Amino acid sequence: MNPKSHLIESLISLGATMLIAAGLGWYMLNEPTRIVSAQGEVLAVQLDEAMTLYAENCAVCHGLNGEGIGATPALNNPALGTMPFEEIQKTIARGRYQTAMPAWSLLDGGPLSDYQIDELVLLIQYGDWAETGDRVVNLGLAPLVPFTTEADPALLAQVGTLTDGATLQTAVQIFAANCVSCHGADGLGTSIAPALNDEDTRAKTADELTRTLTLGNTGTLMAGWSNTLTPEEISALITLIQRWQEVPLGTIPAPNVPIPTTEESIALGSQLYAANCSRCHGPEGQGTPRAPSLNVQSFFVDRTDQAIQQIITSGVPGTAMPTWGDRMTEAEIQAIVGFIRQWEATAPEVATLTRPGGGGPPWRNNSTATTQTTLFGLLPVTSTNPTISTHANGSTQTTNALDWRILLLIGILLASAFTLISKGLSSLARLKR
Ligand code: HEC
Ligand code: HEC
Ligand code: HEC
Repeated sequence: MNPKSHLIESLISLGATMLIAAGLGWYMLNEPTRIVSAQGEVLAVQLDEAMTLYAENCAVCHGLNGEGIGATPALNNPALGTMPFEEIQKTIARGRYQTAMPAWSLLDGGPLSDYQIDELVLLIQYGDWAETGDRVVNLGLAPLVPFTTEADPALLAQVGTLTDGATLQTAVQIFAANCVSCHGADGLGTSIAPALNDEDTRAKTADELTRTLTLGNTGTLMAGWSNTLTPEEISALITLIQRWQEVPLGTIPAPNVPIPTTEESIALGSQLYAANCSRCHGPEGQGTPRAPSLNVQSFFVDRTDQAIQQIITSGVPGTAMPTWGDRMTEAEIQAIVGFIRQWEATAPEVATLTRPGGGGPPWRNNSTATTQTTLFGLLPVTSTNPTISTHANGSTQTTNALDWRILLLIGILLASAFTLISKGLSSLARLKR
């Protein structure tokens, strides 16, 4: 090998070495900012996990956005956020004795690890409650509270004519404002709280009922009301509970609470509707010869979101309308209700379904009775749960700085390339000679 090509080869190797060194140096200079951004990412991931934990465990009592419900305090309150970390941690871990606030730590028989409890404290200190509310909605865990209803005026007046009518009227109004959300219309119970308007409850002594109402039942959704209601109001409620059979049904109607929606829930509803409902009810809800229009004023006017949810969940027995409750989650059905409810603003007075026969829109071409029955057994239900729970996760982990291993690899590759080229050059030089 002649000295000239040897020199070229050495120069090239030197260049490659310097490149590796420069890469490493660049990496080290950037290391501190990388650590800071990594810490930010860890916090973002923890807050993200905390929002789901909150939705699953706490929203039912502390509200959609941590605003508090009835007798349960708010968690979105800035004063709480500035309390020492350990104090909030202890409250969540151990609960508050003799209140409805249960102990959450595994040590105290609860379901949460210390790490998860720390994440919840971070949520209380640094969390975004609007975003948390969206998470609760997207997971279909929006509490049915706070909601209240108005007593029916005519029936309320009728209650006034009963013995001790004024007390019963007061109790009906307190119940409509504070208890109906859990214990249901006319106290007949819901999926989250038992009926109070029944023989079993009437059979309880006034003392027993007063104790439950005043102190709550530890570890259940039933909070103590002694901070919110006066002893007279509590005693009026006991009178109502014991004499409820005298109060006409319909005095305390079900509340009409719109199901909360988010951009994600509407998108999910739209997708589920297209996959499961449009073949019968039409892509725009305009109806088909197989199923009535849903996109029409007369449909919306008498139906609350709860009623629509109930119809979709249970189906219409004896008709082609399937039962969806066993194929979709509550969150998915609520997403469909939110999607359908959007049509109300522009829904026509009269259904726009044109009579079959005259070259109708393409969606009616395959709507024969035979396809209906075959389709019925094979209806695909697209379950898109993962998109709801992971949308925020994915985006927090994609911002990593260039890893040093990648830089090293690039360096080595470049070095080999240089060596190869220099070998080629020196062979060329040799050939020329
Ligand atoms: C069954 C209803 C219920 C559930 C579920 C619940 N809490 Fe509570 N929580 C309460 C009540 C009631 C209080 C008020 C206790 C008292 O009177 O001191 C409370 C108090 C608190 C407090 C103290 C607030 C303050 O201002 O001092 C924190 C923090 C708290 N809860 C966090 C949580 C977290 C986090 C979760 C979910 C893991 C949760 N709670 C679930 C009912 C509940
Ligand atoms: C956040 C939901 C919620 C609210 C609001 C609520 N309760 Fe309850 N209540 C419950 C649950 C759940 C139970 C069952 C507790 C248990 O299993 O021990 C219960 C139990 C009771 C009981 C005992 C029933 C029995 O058969 O032993 C009474 C009485 C009662 N509630 C009255 C009321 C009154 C009156 C109000 C309004 C001032 C009210 N509750 C508000 C959830 C609620
Ligand atoms: C196989 C055809 C079919 C499919 C698929 C279907 N439906 Fe229906 N649906 C019907 C029929 C038929 C009725 C009318 C039942 C009756 O006679 O009351 C109905 C009624 C309803 C009603 C009540 C209308 C009213 O006036 O009260 C709602 C709400 C509804 N469907 C929603 C849905 C949703 C949401 C989906 C998709 C998850 C769906 N349906 C899928 C056939 C269908």
